[in-house]
Amino acid sequence: MTADVIDGKAFAATLRARVGTEARRFEADSGRKAGLAVVLVGEDPASQVYVRSKHKATVEAGMASFEHRLPADAAEAELLALVAQLNADPSVDGILVQLPLPPHMDEAKVIAAIDPDKDVDGFHVVNVGRLATGLHGFVPCTPLGCLMLLKERLGDLSGLEAVVIGRSNIVGKPMAQLLLQESCTVTIAHSRTRNLPEMVRRADIVVAAVGRPEMVKADWIKPGATVIDVGINRLPPTGDESKGRLVGDVAYDEVRDVAGAITPVPGGVGPMTIAVLLRNAVVAAYRNAGLDLPKDRL
Ligand code: GUN
Repeated sequence: MTADVIDGKAFAATLRARVGTEARRFEADSGRKAGLAVVLVGEDPASQVYVRSKHKATVEAGMASFEHRLPADAAEAELLALVAQLNADPSVDGILVQLPLPPHMDEAKVIAAIDPDKDVDGFHVVNVGRLATGLHGFVPCTPLGCLMLLKERLGDLSGLEAVVIGRSNIVGKPMAQLLLQESCTVTIAHSRTRNLPEMVRRADIVVAAVGRPEMVKADWIKPGATVIDVGINRLPPTGDESKGRLVGDVAYDEVRDVAGAITPVPGGVGPMTIAVLLRNAVVAAYRNAGLDLPKDRL
């Protein structure tokens, strides 16, 4: 069997177009653009790339983008004051503080300072609690993007065995919660899990989010399973390469021969993250303005 390739790039483009439609409708209904504020502290090169692409995508979706940059040696109090100002600003619907923060800042404290109803990353404990108890809130963008791809591929997920490899707050734990909400039987595997290959072989759905290049092998996969690869790892350059290849957490070339469907790296989960961020920001705008956004529209 050769797995079908799940085209996250195409799905993300469709979602972004839908978000654009809803952002225009929001502007017509409310008389203002939906607004997303992104805060970058310091000059981490990868974070700068992310923040630039978020800005571009926000503007392309017809939303207002507010970018705030603080120097790497800014005091934590300065960042907290900026977050308080954005919380109070009615033109800002969503706030994203780009992580990681410099080591002298307490990430948990900064996330806790964001108004939960503007927390489009879904990292605030109030949103973590809402997700865990099935209340409406914001769900972290990457796992929600993975769920959208899974539902597009499989339809109803009820009763399926899902194994999530990785237990981070950003991907593994919220992914497990989402799959549980879809009535999957969910296992969270991690670095201390015994006999990981055997555990993964039970799964109809595998979500790999460990950050270990090509760790998941073909003989770990039940034939026909759906494999979602969240990993983005750069291999060391070989031969005449100037930069190493980007690979996921799944050994793509061999797993393709066993799985029913698989997301590639790049072009799978990656493009979904920003599309879902924009979706969360438009949802925030409707909620914060007290307007109704019917559930099936985004
Ligand atoms: N850094 C890497 N990914 C993310 C993300 O999804 N949100 C935030 N705030 N920072 C990140």
